[in-house]
Amino acid sequence: MQLADSSRVCSWKHAFALDNPIRRLIHDPKKILGEYIKPGQTVLDVGCGPGTFSIAMAKMVGESGKVIAVDLQEEMLQILREKAVNLGLESRIFTHKSDPDRIGVSLKVDFVLAFYMVHEVPDSKAFLKEIVSLLKPKGKLLIVEPKFHVSATAFEKTIEVARQAGLRPICRPKIRFSNSQLLSL
Ligand SMILES: C[S@@+](CC[C@H](N)C(=O)[O-])C[C@H]1O[C@@H](n2cnc3c(N)ncnc32)[C@H](O)[C@@H]1O
Repeated sequence: MQLADSSRVCSWKHAFALDNPIRRLIHDPKKILGEYIKPGQTVLDVGCGPGTFSIAMAKMVGESGKVIAVDLQEEMLQILREKAVNLGLESRIFTHKSDPDRIGVSLKVDFVLAFYMVHEVPDSKAFLKEIVSLLKPKGKLLIVEPKFHVSATAFEKTIEVARQAGLRPICRPKIRFSNSQLLSL
């Protein structure tokens, strides 16, 4: 198993910077994801951190849907679980602690969100291949990377790796401070 390079990974100690009212205003999960996620779906939030998006995704999939929230850091998952319980959403959110080089879930999903995390993954080729293996037919992946941290060139390389893994680019939604790409199987 490959070890996570801790200098690349955003520590759980920054959880508040990732999930607070200002962040949710800048990156409003409903505006960003509302078009792609429907009631009853099974969706994956990979590199979920403290769950800014997982919580909103759980509301979008409704009582009959499922959110699989995956992160390397158990502390991030614990923060998310506490929020889910407080909001009564715990029956829709399934947390999973992954390895740096393997997501390791077995359910097939309709939609995957990889928000501000692909640049932290040690082997993006293997990572994107695994995502392809998890998507249902016509399943979609939204990759969002921070402009302040990931150059346009590095972002384009990631999208090329995603193409080679079998994903088809669809569109580039406008997301503040970010480069983004929606892809489909
Ligand atoms: C910058 S945070 C973003 C969190 C969340 N997606 C958001 O936008 O609020 C990146 C997260 O990805 C997780 N991460 C990094 N590499 C990962 C990997 N290989 N597999 C799963 N999670 C990973 C980190 O632990 C961290 O919680």
